[in-house]
Amino acid sequence: MKVLVTGCAGFIGSNLAEYLLAQGHEVLGLDNFNNYYDPKVKEFNISDFKDHPKFTLYRTDLTNREELKQLFDRESVDAIVHLAAWAGLTQSNEDPNTWVFNNIDGTSNLAEVAVSHQVANFIFASTSSVYGTNPVPYKEDMTTDGPLGIYPATKKADEVLLHAYSSCFELNVSILRFFNPIGPRLRPDMAIPKLIRAAEYGYTFTLYQGTGSSRDYTYIVNMMEAISHLLAHPYRYEVFNIGNAKPVTLQELLECVEKVTGKKINTVRKDRPGQMQITCADTGKAKRMIGYNPSTTLNEMVANYYDWFMRQPEWYKKGEEAWMV
Ligand SMILES: NC(=O)c1ccc[n+]([C@@H]2O[C@H](COP(=O)([O-])OP(=O)(O)OC[C@H]3O[C@@H](n4cnc5c(N)ncnc54)[C@H](O)[C@@H]3O)[C@@H](O)[C@H]2O)c1
Repeated sequence: MKVLVTGCAGFIGSNLAEYLLAQGHEVLGLDNFNNYYDPKVKEFNISDFKDHPKFTLYRTDLTNREELKQLFDRESVDAIVHLAAWAGLTQSNEDPNTWVFNNIDGTSNLAEVAVSHQVANFIFASTSSVYGTNPVPYKEDMTTDGPLGIYPATKKADEVLLHAYSSCFELNVSILRFFNPIGPRLRPDMAIPKLIRAAEYGYTFTLYQGTGSSRDYTYIVNMMEAISHLLAHPYRYEVFNIGNAKPVTLQELLECVEKVTGKKINTVRKDRPGQMQITCADTGKAKRMIGYNPSTTLNEMVANYYDWFMRQPEWYKKGEEAWMV
């Protein structure tokens, strides 16, 4: 199968490209290497597979309709996994236009070209943060029109837009609401790499929410399995929670990283509006319909990540003070 992975130089996209290549698929990777975080990290993310004979890199921006059309005219794409986006909830509130333009315009351009080129399957990365202040555990059929930031609002808008493309133009669409993934190449702005850099290099870790707040951490391998299943079994339009159904407090996460690294972490508390107090997926629908069955514990996820992290070059491990903000 020839799969277009958008956002292939990012955290999830680079893991997916590598996973699909290992499964024997042909991968077209699209990314504009934007500066949401250091682009040299993105170049590093693709370094393990960029020369693979079944991988082709397109340094293309999704908001450039002409370049997108040329790509689809040239390549016969069987399926799209659309991961490219500006992520980051609180950051999105500081620069709404960038998030809205990239995430909504980019997605509608891609859906448009998917329809005009008869692509059989469109898988979209949404987020647990569309659930806003809903009570946990979150179920796919809950109302999600009260997100707490611009970023989840753009993802919700994309979900609705893709529903319209699916029903008006018979585009097969699966929406995956990801819950705090953990795996190699985690974005530098995420809590776990920051905690590990704080432990290893003496940086201070900023607590943007209370240590009692909780997140439902999900192992990257389980996410890849869910995507792989959906590539083989498309739906006309379905939404799935891809989480772990086991929320972990920030305090527990901190202690877990201290245990895995064997080092103490210095913290400072700062308020950042828009934080959710808790996230937790109801994964019943994904279990029933796509055989999703996560079983990795937090300790295993963090230990595996740490093992990978410690094998990376010094510049990457140490990072920069700016990555800790
Ligand atoms: N990491 C998480 O915790 C998490 C949680 C829920 C959902 N998601 C979603 O999963 C997807 C991947 O997230 P990630 O953590 O890998 O993020 P990431 O920032 O590491 O990767 C996204 C990639 O998309 C690229 N990109 C952004 N806008 C683009 C555009 N207009 N044209 C071309 N490329 C563009 C970026 O350069 C980047 O390499 C995103 O859609 C994100 O919203 C992530």
